[in-house]
Amino acid sequence: MSYVRLVDVTKRFGEVTAVNKLNLEIAKGECFSMLGPSGCGKTTTLRMVAGFEDLDDGEIHVGERLLSSKKKGYYLPPEKRDFGMVFQAFAVWPHLSIYENVAFPLRIRKLPSAEIDSRTKTALKATNLLDVAKKSPEDLSGGGKQRVALARALAINPDVMLLDEPLSSLDPHLREEMRFEIKDLQRQFGFSIIYVTHDQAEAMALSDRILVMKLGVVQQIDTPMNIYRRPANKFVFSFIGLHNFLEVERKEGAYRLLAGEALDKNLTPPQDLATEARLTLASRPSEIDFVDDGGISGRVIRKSFLGEFVDYQITVGEQTVRVQKGRRTQGPEKDENCRLQLLHPVWYKVDE
Ligand SMILES: Nc1ncnc2c1ncn2[C@@H]1O[C@H](COP(=O)(O)OP(=O)(O)O)[C@@H](O)[C@H]1O
Ligand SMILES: [Mg+2]
Repeated sequence: MSYVRLVDVTKRFGEVTAVNKLNLEIAKGECFSMLGPSGCGKTTTLRMVAGFEDLDDGEIHVGERLLSSKKKGYYLPPEKRDFGMVFQAFAVWPHLSIYENVAFPLRIRKLPSAEIDSRTKTALKATNLLDVAKKSPEDLSGGGKQRVALARALAINPDVMLLDEPLSSLDPHLREEMRFEIKDLQRQFGFSIIYVTHDQAEAMALSDRILVMKLGVVQQIDTPMNIYRRPANKFVFSFIGLHNFLEVERKEGAYRLLAGEALDKNLTPPQDLATEARLTLASRPSEIDFVDDGGISGRVIRKSFLGEFVDYQITVGEQTVRVQKGRRTQGPEKDENCRLQLLHPVWYKVDE
């Protein structure tokens, strides 16, 4: 059941189409991430959902409510949308106590004071801030300040949380910890999350589904597992994790590496790509095995021990493949020949 619904949403800034005909449905209680490189239109999309930005085309709905519609000339202001929002910058007020920071949006809404107090305390408790409620947010670390921002967003009982790179100003270990805190809050309070990030690991860890965007255009919307295992195109493949792209050509009905050897008979593209003369064979460095027979022949030109795993640079014909194996694997040494088996090869058109 879709809850948040974007239909053909488009936004232009002069010559730049920041978001191009975006169609999207997010379920109640879902954690949905928008992932893509800087400038691909993530923040603009979130700002349109929040109501800080109008649309050049399309509509946005939440449940039965229409929020924005270009055609109908309708636009509900942000304060009437009742979404929780947290941004990258620590948007806390240093001259107010932590308690007052969290109570602030409730005071603006002129709620009865008993309700303000109970909602504020619930939000402070959920974010482990109740003991420090009288202090200034300036007394807290970056993680603490983002917790205040989260508590303030929680206090209004939002059914949708809009989070724009909320963890990217934090240290890596804290970032990882706060991912779990956000998930816990979601479980407790049941809101939907639209989470914007350029960090693929963060999107993978948090999300039920991920949207990958490039230059304002959706590339794929899918579960983290499918985004990783079945990327819709080469851009998605290379944006999510490490990649090898081998160029392959079809000659006299057989497939061979460009200027290299023929491929094993069982390594062939799917039917719908069988007419292409040139193809890209994609694989992850962690999904390649060293084998004794068959596979692709190569030569190790670099072997580096990286602690958790060993990283190999291997030439196959005139191309290079990266392989990563757990450090317990008995792999070849530098300057040795080897044979590589691609465990989950994925085929693409060369220009896809
Ligand atoms: N207020 C604005 N005025 C002009 N161009 C903008 C404005 N906001 C965003 N853009 C442009 O829109 C595109 C998408 O930006 P943004 O949504 O911020 O990307 P992201 O959040 O994915 O990094 C970029 O090309 C950016 O330069
Ligand atoms: Mg942004």
